[in-house]
Formats: sequence, structure tokens, C-alpha cells
Amino acid sequence: MSTSKGTQRMTDSKRMQWWHDARFGMFVHWGLYSQLGRHEWVMNRERIPVPEYEKLAASWKPKARPARDWARLAKQAGMKYVVMTTKHHEGFCLWDTKLTGYNAVQCGPGRDLVAEYVEACREFGLKIGFYYSLMDWHHPDGARCVKHEASRRRFVAYTHGLVRELMSNYGKIDVLWYDVAWPLPTPELWESARLNAMVRSIQPHIIINNRALLDEDFGTPEEHIVAEKTGRAWEACMTFNGSWGWQATPPEDWHSVRSVLNMLRQVSAEGGNLLLNIGPKPDGSIPELAVERLHAVGKWLSKNGEAAYGKKDVVQGRFEWMNTGQFTLSGRTAYYWCARWPGTELALGGIKTKLLRASILADGEALGFRQEKDRIVITGLPRNNPDRIAGVSVLKLEFASPPKQALGAGCVIP
Ligand code: GLC
Repeated sequence: MSTSKGTQRMTDSKRMQWWHDARFGMFVHWGLYSQLGRHEWVMNRERIPVPEYEKLAASWKPKARPARDWARLAKQAGMKYVVMTTKHHEGFCLWDTKLTGYNAVQCGPGRDLVAEYVEACREFGLKIGFYYSLMDWHHPDGARCVKHEASRRRFVAYTHGLVRELMSNYGKIDVLWYDVAWPLPTPELWESARLNAMVRSIQPHIIINNRALLDEDFGTPEEHIVAEKTGRAWEACMTFNGSWGWQATPPEDWHSVRSVLNMLRQVSAEGGNLLLNIGPKPDGSIPELAVERLHAVGKWLSKNGEAAYGKKDVVQGRFEWMNTGQFTLSGRTAYYWCARWPGTELALGGIKTKLLRASILADGEALGFRQEKDRIVITGLPRNNPDRIAGVSVLKLEFASPPKQALGAGCVIP
């Protein structure tokens, strides 16, 4: 796949720096579907006819400025950027578009919800991302464009026009997050290179994902955390409870604080980002469990953020699996995210690199240790896991050189 970046205005690494450092962002799925509470694909899954679905546009009456609550929560949670659905597959535009009347200003809400969102992100110092679904179940050309050239041209012009509005009317936008390039199967048919060149001409700093069928800046594994094989930038997007759009599901379906921390550890260890979703209720309020758990995540990150944020080295190939925890790595410093506390001593086998200092990251106090032939034993630990938030304590291990672990399957090194 190719990209739209013919001439680069600044180096990719400089442009992408904030995004890599950010590591953790909030995805927000909010639209007409939120009123039904049965997933954002409800129109398609239940084959709701367009005229019936359209009625949701009139009945949608969100409360005043909910985006301020999302932005405040994102900030408290230690998230550094937000990506909001400006138009999902249902086709309803959350902003003041001139290209369709099916929008939040002319219908029920009577307000530009994208403008409110942008303002809230700026107020809380968060980077701003726009999600935009190429697939459109409402526009008359949205499906037939694959069969009729005149229809394709109209739909591509509509698509490019909507994206141009989003790029032009809200100041600096940091991320453009396309989704689902159905039904046109190639970037040529979407005219994606031209689309993204237009986007970059208006927003030279912007970071663009790969879902308009061009690679662009980052890959988007969904609902699983797997590094891109090519070593390029990637961001795992994850639901909190199995649905992107608001849905009342039992507490067991929601990621626990520990599970969110584990996702963060995984992306940090493998060089990616985590975009964790909230699906606000129809009025815009955030599901209670998401609020509660994200507060805890933020509290944890305020003490242990060093283990998660910023430049990290890929752990794979340097460390092996352990039972009591897992590593992240930054040069000569390894962070052991200990989620199953071993008691007063912690042994790490297979490491011969000279250890200079060991401490519990959250309090910084030095710990005792002994370095044996090919193992390190940290001593004098508290009997129980000292982390009261989630039972995940990070041991900071400072080595004389970038550490490496080699265990293999046997107990005697041949
Ligand atoms: C999928 C779904 C969509 C969701 C998106 C988020 O592509 O179709 O509903 O918004 O994933 O990554």
C-alpha cells in the first residue's frame, strides 16, 4: 500500500512524537444508535429501514456540553488524546455540515456536537482526533456507488467534502481516524490519496490511520493487542464492554482496572498505543463503570506512569514470560509490572546483566537484591502487594546496560 505523502513537510518521527509519547487515548462512540443501546451496528443488524431510523435524529436530546465530562475523565485517567465519532456508519453528521441536513445542528440536538467536543479537548489540554466512517448506510449513494460510476463520483465528492469541512472548520486537528471502506474495494475508487493529500494540505501535522485503504501513519488492530509485523506505528482500539456504542451490559463484561493496566503494559511493551472506548449514554453521560475504573487507572498512572509512557523499547526478544509479572523496557531500565505478588522475595531467572538499583516505582525506595549466576533475587519486599489500587506494583530495575533475559525450557544451562 502507498501513502498520500508525496513531499513531507516534516520528518515522520517528529510529527509522530507526541502520539508515541501519549500511549493512551480515549475513543468515544456517540451517535443516534446510542439511544437504542444495542450496539452502533443496530441499524444494520436489525435491518431498521432508513425512514424509521431517521426518527432517532429528531428524538436525540443530549444534555448540555457532555464533552467536558469526557475530556475531564480522559485527563484524570491519564489519557492524552481523544478520538470521537463525527459520523458513524449510520451516516448522521454530528457537526454543522452544509452537505446534508442529516446533522446535529438541523435535527434534534440543535447544536454542533463536534464543536463542543473540540472546545472541551482544548480546555483540558488533550489532542483531538476525528473518527470518520467512510461507509454510510443513510446516503442514497452509500451502497450503490459500487455499481454505478455516476453514483460513485457523487459519493466520493460527498465524502471528500465532509472530510474537508472537518479539516477546515475546527482549527488544528491532531488525528484523522477513518473507518470501514465498504463498499468500494480499493483506495483508487475512494480516491484516498487525493483525499489524504487534501487533508494534509489543510492539517500538515495530522496523523492518519490506515482505514481508507492506504497505510498512512499507523495500523489499527481492533479488540486485540498485536504489534504490526512491519515494525510500523500501531494503535490497538478496544471496547470497554464489548460494544462501541452505549449498551448496558453486566459488570462482568467490563474490563477491570487490572485488565486495562495489563493492556497498557502490553502496548508499552510492544511499541503501540491503546485507544480505549467509552460509549456515552444518549444524553452524553458516561457509563458509571467506565468512570469508576478510569479514575482508578488514572490514579495508578499518576504513581506509575513512568513504566507506561514515553519512549519504550520493544520487549519481545529481550524478556521471556514470567508468572508473577511482565516487563516494559526503556534503555537500561526495566519495569516489572508485578500483578501476582510473590511475597517478600522476587526471583527473576535468566538475567545476567548487572543490576545497579531496584526500587518500587510508586515510592522510589531502594530495595535489597542479590545477583547470582543467572538470576536476580529482590529481597525485603512487603509481604503483600503494596499497590492498593489494582494490586499491580511496578519494580523499577536499573541495570548497567540494556538488560536481557534468557531462560529456555531446561533448568540446567547446557
Ligand atoms: C469496526 C466497527 C465500528 C467501530 C470500529 C472501531 O470497524 O464497524 O462499529 O466503530 O470498529 O474500531
